[in-house]
Amino acid sequence: MSDKAKLKIGGREIELDLITGSEKELGIDVSNLRVSSNIITLDPGYKNTGSCKSAITFLNGEKGILRYRGYSIEELAEKADFLEVAFLLIYGELPNKEELEKLLNDIKENSIIDEDIKKILESFPKSAHPMGILSSLTSALIAFNPEKKLSLSGNEDQDYMYNSIVKLLAKIPILVAWVHRRRKGLPLDYGDYSLGYVENITKMMFQMPNLEYVQNDTLVNAMNKLLILHADHEQNCSTSTVRIVGSSEASLFASISAGISALWGRLHGGANQAVLEMLEAIKKDGGDTKKFMSKAKDKSDPFRLMGFGHRVYKNFDPRAKIIKVTADQILNELGIDDPILDIAKGLEKEALEDDYFVDRKLYPNVDFYSGIIYKALNIPNEMFTVMFALGRIPGWIAHWREMRKNNEPIGRPRQIYIGETLRNFSDIESR
Ligand code: SDX
Repeated sequence: MSDKAKLKIGGREIELDLITGSEKELGIDVSNLRVSSNIITLDPGYKNTGSCKSAITFLNGEKGILRYRGYSIEELAEKADFLEVAFLLIYGELPNKEELEKLLNDIKENSIIDEDIKKILESFPKSAHPMGILSSLTSALIAFNPEKKLSLSGNEDQDYMYNSIVKLLAKIPILVAWVHRRRKGLPLDYGDYSLGYVENITKMMFQMPNLEYVQNDTLVNAMNKLLILHADHEQNCSTSTVRIVGSSEASLFASISAGISALWGRLHGGANQAVLEMLEAIKKDGGDTKKFMSKAKDKSDPFRLMGFGHRVYKNFDPRAKIIKVTADQILNELGIDDPILDIAKGLEKEALEDDYFVDRKLYPNVDFYSGIIYKALNIPNEMFTVMFALGRIPGWIAHWREMRKNNEPIGRPRQIYIGETLRNFSDIESR
């Protein structure tokens, strides 16, 4: 195949380069289109537009493939530890024993948070949504960890970048645990750094005051798997937000804070909370899934089947498959008989046999079953998207670092103007 594309407009023929990725994906390079033709492309929602070349995560939506740095999500979810996956996403290789031990030790050394952050946390009303609190506290961390412009070329900047990454990996889990515990009226604590990374996260979240903490391996394993499954997903809405905010040379912490806000939306990470609220509404309404399926297909009804459909996957979301099996395992191991799971399975079965969903290739996505596990782990609905954000931190860091190392230009899309043409100002009496 030629490595050129030809664009014919009127009598003109414009030749554009074709880019081929390592998985044989093809892209037309339009980076010089406007300069050479004064023409731009238009693509609301960027459904057909690549924003960058990236070596971090590969998705194949038709085949339901997801790989982090070439490793399949199935293998990582089964065999890896979340901190190993964080290292893999950020640095491109699985860590050896020394590298992983160093990362965990450096995280422990950075696991103190200025007491003034607690005062900011305490200033939020109890009703404040945890995602708004987490985004604010992440941004507030900048005040206590002043950052500088990173060129990422010199060794000093590499060390500085490493320190910023370690601070985020150290402090975000504490903030997540604090937000969770404050909502439950529990004392805040820093956890136990003699434990592993995920073990400590679960202890910080679930340790009850005045009671000896007994680690529940089912819970730790479930948390580890969920964090790995949420760790990255190439150029989704919140990751693209982190990249574009970082492209202005805003700091890593500020870019991650923006990513948290983008993830909050119910069409994106907020869907896991919306799925549980939908399933609970169906249960309360008597479990009539057909009624809700009809609402989801009715264009005059704003109701959508939350947890279904995906911009990229036009086959099963491989994460949903893993989470569905894990949900079954966990509910069995914890001896929980939750009718919500049966409603979810019933809804899935009906949707997979319904022409509307089949024709539009709408399958369960990562958010459809994850809330059932969070609920079984006694995490409240409003904290579900915070758990998604906790998992996505390494992916956001990896993309911010890649964008800065590649010295990518500031993100600034163009537009097609459809407003008023030139007109003269008129004084108020004549309007
Ligand atoms: C995540 O991008 C990522 O990678 C995100 C994510 C990640 O890891 O970062 O995977 C995480 O955000 C998963 C998605 C979670 N969101 C939801 O579950 C919300 C429900 N889903 C939909 O809102 C929707 O499917 C989106 C937002 C996920 C995708 O929207 P698109 O790609 O813009 O598709 P669309 O809205 O153009 O829908 C195409 C058709 C439309 O019908 P027609 O106009 O063709 O008749 O499918 C219909 C839509 O109305 N449709 C749905 C539907 N999703 C799409 N109809 C009913 N219920 C749904 N859930």
